[in-house]
Amino acid sequence: MTERLDDKTIVLGVTGSIAAYKGAELARRLMDLGADVHATLTRAGAEFITPLTLRTLTGNPVTVDMFEEPSEWQVKHVSLAERAAAVVVAPASADAIAKLSLGLADEFICTVALATRAPVIVAPAMNDKMLSHPATQEHLERLRARGVRIIEPETGRLASGAVGHGRLADPQVIAAAVVEAVAPGDLEGVRVLVTAGPTREPLDPVRFLSNRSSGKMGYALAEAAARRGAEVTVVSGPVSIPVPAGCRMKAVETAAEMRREVMRRFPRCRVLIAAAAVADYSVAGAGKKKLKRGDEPLSVELVPTKDILAECGDRKKAGQLLVGFAAETEDLLPHAREKLAAKKVDLLVANDVSQPGIGFESDRNAGYLLLADGAEVELPEMEKAAFAERIIDAVVERLGAREGRRRRR
Ligand code: CTP
Repeated sequence: MTERLDDKTIVLGVTGSIAAYKGAELARRLMDLGADVHATLTRAGAEFITPLTLRTLTGNPVTVDMFEEPSEWQVKHVSLAERAAAVVVAPASADAIAKLSLGLADEFICTVALATRAPVIVAPAMNDKMLSHPATQEHLERLRARGVRIIEPETGRLASGAVGHGRLADPQVIAAAVVEAVAPGDLEGVRVLVTAGPTREPLDPVRFLSNRSSGKMGYALAEAAARRGAEVTVVSGPVSIPVPAGCRMKAVETAAEMRREVMRRFPRCRVLIAAAAVADYSVAGAGKKKLKRGDEPLSVELVPTKDILAECGDRKKAGQLLVGFAAETEDLLPHAREKLAAKKVDLLVANDVSQPGIGFESDRNAGYLLLADGAEVELPEMEKAAFAERIIDAVVERLGAREGRRRRR
């Protein structure tokens, strides 16, 4: 087998599960792939296998209780976290999963997982009742939403002797996931432009018209693309969430400013993701003077803004990919199909924004993915980060399909 983890530092956390011995097998496999494996046992993990086993296998010291030698662990977890190409928790007990989800740091592997920016892979192993408990499922979903790769456990004979879902995935499957996580991202070097958030259209110097967009969906998409190697620029209206990791940011206020910044960058980008809720109208004659209160009704004239996405659709060059959104409150799919065609987008995400708990201001989303070739995929309700991954998967697939067509020509 080719040594696909050559020279890569992999931190392996073995936690309190009867499957801990398989952690040793995984260490072996990762080493066979060329990795420099640094194993660590949680206190519970050390009840199942000994540090000596892992130390002998990996040739590296094994950390168990991080408070043993404070001067050492303090430096060690940070330096290991920085050196790590990936952090793997296998087997991951329910307790370890909860700690990772909550960001607790009372075990060495948890501090490494917090301090690293490398991919984190978690392979759960536990009793089927513990696995299906809402607490465990919520923790797993939260980890997934943060980009942690969860290796689905298998169904088979569990420690109790009963057959159920919760057996640790085969170490070979986990090792393959590590290789994949360490491999260069599938959007490596691809220039992606994302619009996000609302716009503000001034009425006067102190008042504006805006909408409920929080920017969360656009930011999640930007972060997902950046994590997969893309060079991402976000042109964002005013929001109150942090700049997505690894992205360049251009802050704007009005639809006209957003258009200017997007059109300037569009010719150089490969993918445009238009997730912003751009105002369709701005206020005519909004001046420098504050509007004064009066007793008479006040009318303002609204003038249409330019449709940024449609303009990009018109100027699109071969090889560029456009992703649009359709926020609808009725007749979701017919309206979405119209927008897909009218704006010449390749991939359109349709949301029913009248549904409670999803869309605007929420952390969750649901909808449909419509492709220019007529295909439609339903995306069930999930965290926006997971939703973003699904959309980016579709972008990667479309780009790949085009590459394939070009190569075949
Ligand atoms: N969009 C844009 N510029 C605008 C308006 C919309 O780029 N001035 C983009 C949005 O970012 C989104 C898509 O167009 O990707 C559709 O936005 P949406 O608000 O759903 O539709 P509209 O075209 O504005 O139509 P309507 O509000 O009438 O549904």
